[in-house]
Amino acid sequence: MSTAGLAFTDPDNHVQNDVWSKVDAYSLEHLHSKTKPNTDALRHALINSNEHGLPDIASSPTMAKFMALHCKAKCAKHALEVGVLGGYGSLWLATENPGLKITGIEIEPLHKEVSEQNFKYAGVEDRVTVRLGAGLEVIPQLEAEIKQGLLPKFDFVYLDADKSNNWSYIDLLTPLCESGAAIFVDNMLQQGELVNPDTKSPSAIGARTVVERVGTDDRLDAILMQMVGEKTYDAFLMAVIR
Ligand code: DHB
Ligand code: MG
Repeated sequence: MSTAGLAFTDPDNHVQNDVWSKVDAYSLEHLHSKTKPNTDALRHALINSNEHGLPDIASSPTMAKFMALHCKAKCAKHALEVGVLGGYGSLWLATENPGLKITGIEIEPLHKEVSEQNFKYAGVEDRVTVRLGAGLEVIPQLEAEIKQGLLPKFDFVYLDADKSNNWSYIDLLTPLCESGAAIFVDNMLQQGELVNPDTKSPSAIGARTVVERVGTDDRLDAILMQMVGEKTYDAFLMAVIR
């Protein structure tokens, strides 16, 4: 990965840069000031997750609010998050969108428990339901419930779990989404391995599979967006269901 001209540090696997961090801090100070009603709940979620030993890999506030505003712009009613972790991303979606119900999938019992504490603290526990299990096991259950009319289709999906299965998630979830629904896929860059055709990294192979399969799938229109910020130089893929 080229780092020409930029002062990178890599203290704990995050590529960081002073300007990127300052821009996030400055823009959030003005665009999401500490007086916003969800500030305390979001802070609590990060602190509580940290106290329970969860890894510090939650979405950045900027990325999470971007997705929350996407849901707001399209009046989303039912979102799916695969890989809930401590619930930080889902909390942004729920607190910015009072009419949104969220289904989450989380494989780690401790993460599910901590996320539920965080949803409860925020007062959104009646709109967020976390299913325990692997995505590939839980998605068929959701499919059965949608087919029986027990669960509405999804109009927003965020994939932030095991990167090697992301194409399977997209393939399985596309028929469970409304036309016009967006599927966002996090962590597509894989430290630049995305563009290494000889990569041995399962996550990077997963990311390449997503780009190449989505590109030839006539159910989807998609783009890959690179981004920088306080904790990352990364990319997300956005696919919209036709
Ligand atoms: C990392 C970041 C993520 O957003 C994620 O979902 C998994 C891992 C990381 O920086 O290691
Ligand atoms: Mg992620």
